[in-house]
Amino acid sequence: MKEIAYYHDRFVDVDERVIPIQERGHQFGDGIYEVIRVYDGEPFTMKEHMERLEKSAEAIGMGLPYSREKIEALALEALERSGIQEAEIYMQITRGIHLRQHHYPDPSKPVLSMVVKEARKLTPEKRASGVPVITTEEIRWKMCWIKSLNLLPNVMAKQKAMEAGAHEAVFVDEGIVTEGSSSNLFIVKEGTLLTHPATNAILHGITRRVILDIAEELGIPVEERTFTLEELLEADEAFLSSTTMEAASISAVDGTPLNGGRTILDRIHAKFVERTRKETVDS
Ligand code: PDD
Repeated sequence: MKEIAYYHDRFVDVDERVIPIQERGHQFGDGIYEVIRVYDGEPFTMKEHMERLEKSAEAIGMGLPYSREKIEALALEALERSGIQEAEIYMQITRGIHLRQHHYPDPSKPVLSMVVKEARKLTPEKRASGVPVITTEEIRWKMCWIKSLNLLPNVMAKQKAMEAGAHEAVFVDEGIVTEGSSSNLFIVKEGTLLTHPATNAILHGITRRVILDIAEELGIPVEERTFTLEELLEADEAFLSSTTMEAASISAVDGTPLNGGRTILDRIHAKFVERTRKETVDS
């Protein structure tokens, strides 16, 4: 088992220095990305990730360097070469290598890069205890649904969380909770599952979608509506969702312990585990 990478038409060692100085991803963050979880050798929700990748590319006026089928095949090849069963596939596409100028090069030649490595997992202790979060002012742009490489506000927010001994930073926009720096957020109030609607203000998380599907399957009432920081603080349950965390309970916000309920979370997460295993057994 070993980490493997891909850059611009070839497989490379993860430590190999391959990014040219004129890479637009490197110079402008001019590109998009996806993170896909692999359970027992099988990528989970690959189709949904590829669809989001295509949407993000279209939104920034960029083509894909290869067909979707070829990108998927390369991801599978990278996975096989790595031999890692519980993996994470990181893929990014940039607008390519061109002399530095702000406007799009014509023609642009997008470049795919990938890394396959061991999946980051929430420790069993954190899954059991929940994770503390801090809040931070929403300072991002108005197109958060694009999975853009430009993550500086997210990086700064996560750093703030780390320095505060928290696991995640949650963006709050004039009292409204949008999402985490690398996760979506759910609360439960009187048996109803609430999450921010899939607008420009959040990334339309694939895990968020899976959780909404599971809630529907379980007959749990769902409302996709905005909620306030006060509602988060008073929620019966609160949890984060992402490809790496799956669904993880929030134990405290800015040092204030939450109610700590997890009846609905546990039901949803049990199904999530079932789905991620079932997919591998069925396929
Ligand atoms: N982050 N919101 C933001 C801002 C994110 O960066 C992510 C994912 C999510 C959850 O999306 P999904 O369920 O599709 O993983 C929400 C990835 C994991 C990352 O940047 O590493």
